[in-house]
Amino acid sequence: MKRRENIITVAIDSPAAAGAGTQAKYIAEEYNLLYLDTGKIYRFIGLQKLRNKKISYRYIKLKVDKIKLKDLDNKLLLSDDVATSASKIAKNKIIRKIVKNFQLKCAYCPPTKFSGSVLDGRDITSNIMKDAMFKFYITADIKIRAKRRFLEYKKLKKIVSYNEVLKSLKNRDYLDKNRKLNPLKKTKDSILINTSKLSKKSCFKKIKSIIDEKLKVNGNLQRS
Ligand code: C5P
Repeated sequence: MKRRENIITVAIDSPAAAGAGTQAKYIAEEYNLLYLDTGKIYRFIGLQKLRNKKISYRYIKLKVDKIKLKDLDNKLLLSDDVATSASKIAKNKIIRKIVKNFQLKCAYCPPTKFSGSVLDGRDITSNIMKDAMFKFYITADIKIRAKRRFLEYKKLKKIVSYNEVLKSLKNRDYLDKNRKLNPLKKTKDSILINTSKLSKKSCFKKIKSIIDEKLKVNGNLQRS
């Protein structure tokens, strides 16, 4: 794979429901970057696995290689069952390798209409985009994350209690932080952003000032 040169690369890791997706979308819009929510690929595979426990790696690879970003907008991917299934299959070495190839293409070869890429997930700063220009670890208090996710589900008319959401997030945090392969962790070179007490806009203001500062120093504000 030939990497595009002189592009802006932003890597974000976060536990579930910490607000990373919202910030990644703002960043993508502000700097004209391709945005990939990498959790959606694991959810996509998690959904296939829920439908058919016996699907082969060959089938999964074929499906993932053919994914179009709009396929990841599927509302079926948003359920808690799919999220838990995603967390389970995400422990698997072969699946992580299949997903890695897809992520690398998006990260380093985004279509030329974009000035770069922003990816969020669990192993983006530590594994997929170790050399990203910007690395962030976005987190928030577990109870605040559970409340936010609960309200999202309510909006989608999903019937689930706050306590169920809290329990499920705790379970996923545990699985994601304690697995052997590419666990969620804050790398030393990632900037910590705690969104517990910040509004979406003030959080973005903080991130934008960090990005702008560095782009100004490097003299490469590459917005189109
Ligand atoms: O981000 P989201 O909650 O949609 O991710 C679903 C699951 O996919 C996570 O709980 C995690 O187990 C897995 N995942 C991962 N590596 C990533 C992104 C997501 O293991 N880069």
